Amino acid sequence: MLIDGRAGRLSLISLLLAVSIGLLSDVVCSYVRPPPREIIFVKQSGDADSDTTPQQVHISQVGQDKMRISWITESPTPAKLEYGTSPGAYRFSATGTTSSYRYLMYNSGEIHDVDIGPLNPNTHYYYRLGDSAKQYNFKTPPSRLPVKLAVAGDLGQTEWTRSTLQHIGDSNYDMLLLPGDLSYADDVQSLWDSFGRLVEPLASQRPWMVTQGNHEVEKIPLFHRKPFTAYNARWRMPFEESGSDSNLYYSFDVATVHVIMLGSYADFAPHSAQYKWLEGDLNKVDREKTPWILVLIHAPWYNSNTAHQGEIQSIAMKAAMEDLLYRARVDLVFAGHVHAYERFTRVYKDKADSCGPVHVTIGDGGNREGLATRYIDPKPEISMFREASFGHGILEVVNATHALWTWHRNDDNEPVATDSVWLTSSSSFPACKL
Ligand SMILES: *[C@@H]1O[C@H](CO)[C@@H](O)[C@H](O)[C@H]1NC(C)=O
Ligand SMILES: [Fe+2]
Repeated sequence: MLIDGRAGRLSLISLLLAVSIGLLSDVVCSYVRPPPREIIFVKQSGDADSDTTPQQVHISQVGQDKMRISWITESPTPAKLEYGTSPGAYRFSATGTTSSYRYLMYNSGEIHDVDIGPLNPNTHYYYRLGDSAKQYNFKTPPSRLPVKLAVAGDLGQTEWTRSTLQHIGDSNYDMLLLPGDLSYADDVQSLWDSFGRLVEPLASQRPWMVTQGNHEVEKIPLFHRKPFTAYNARWRMPFEESGSDSNLYYSFDVATVHVIMLGSYADFAPHSAQYKWLEGDLNKVDREKTPWILVLIHAPWYNSNTAHQGEIQSIAMKAAMEDLLYRARVDLVFAGHVHAYERFTRVYKDKADSCGPVHVTIGDGGNREGLATRYIDPKPEISMFREASFGHGILEVVNATHALWTWHRNDDNEPVATDSVWLTSSSSFPACKL
């Protein structure tokens, strides 16, 4: 914001006035939003001695008891890895597939995906990739509750992203759920590589389950007509395993939580492939086995920030699919896109409804576009908490009926629990029984 000298003097005068009438305490105590931070580019590290050195390692859960290990090498090398439950002792080995893509003048590295398992729940595994001696490790999620799910959208790659990642890393989470907008590469493909390196320390240790945002589309008229080229190649999610025909929408179970990743930038109209898949997926849910249902989208269906109002992915997708989610008694819908935090009460068709899902916007991971600071006034009654700050959320599903949701704000470098609320599962409300 530009302040000219006169306005600056004016505000100094009003500040002095405020002091003199004893209002300053209010000014000092209120939260001061931190300024934007530097964009970062993560280079391949110095110990990368050869062009077959693994980089950008990340893992995702495949089916109930398998893990997909994904990594990139500059040059071709077999997609093989070794793993086991003790450091340095790799009892098992597995092989997978390798792909690559072109985008304008850019040629990607060799993208390897190897599925391993069956794995034991809540267990540490140690692994090494290709011919590299470097040891990585991960922990599988528990098969029963409690489970700790971290949620952060619109990450990007700035110093704020780094602090969000640090807080998530310190939270002892079991799995990350990302409601779209990952790298903010925006056609500059080397930024996808940088993002892969930035998140590797976390994403190689816990499953990262993602869905797409508008920044993943990367379609250029005439020059690159195919959407989602980099995203689909680099972040292959377990869609086949859930009967989906597209990497843009899929579902899985973690502990006893059913998680549905929807595609805000895939066709969502009634009778579209995504709509039919969602209908079938919700019909298959057994609430005895998975008492909780979470849904992730990118563009929020409920939003009282002035940013991203009236977009088709919000309005038309909500019109098409809100009934399906309501009838299935979905518990929570997480969205990104708006770079701020907002939590709604349980809602359906714009009204509070105890059988509808709680909607949460959590597009505040820390990207270079900065925060969406303006809100519609007055605050709608269904909006329970809203704030434009960077941060992340933790959903701790404790048992079949109770979950603790906490939003942590990045206050300078500290994660501060700012919004915290106990949620009860829809399936436990007698009045919402199906
Ligand atoms: C579920 O967790 C909540 C919160 O800790 C607790 O009050 C409740 O008694 C638990 N329910 C069962 C069945 O254990
Ligand atoms: Fe977005």
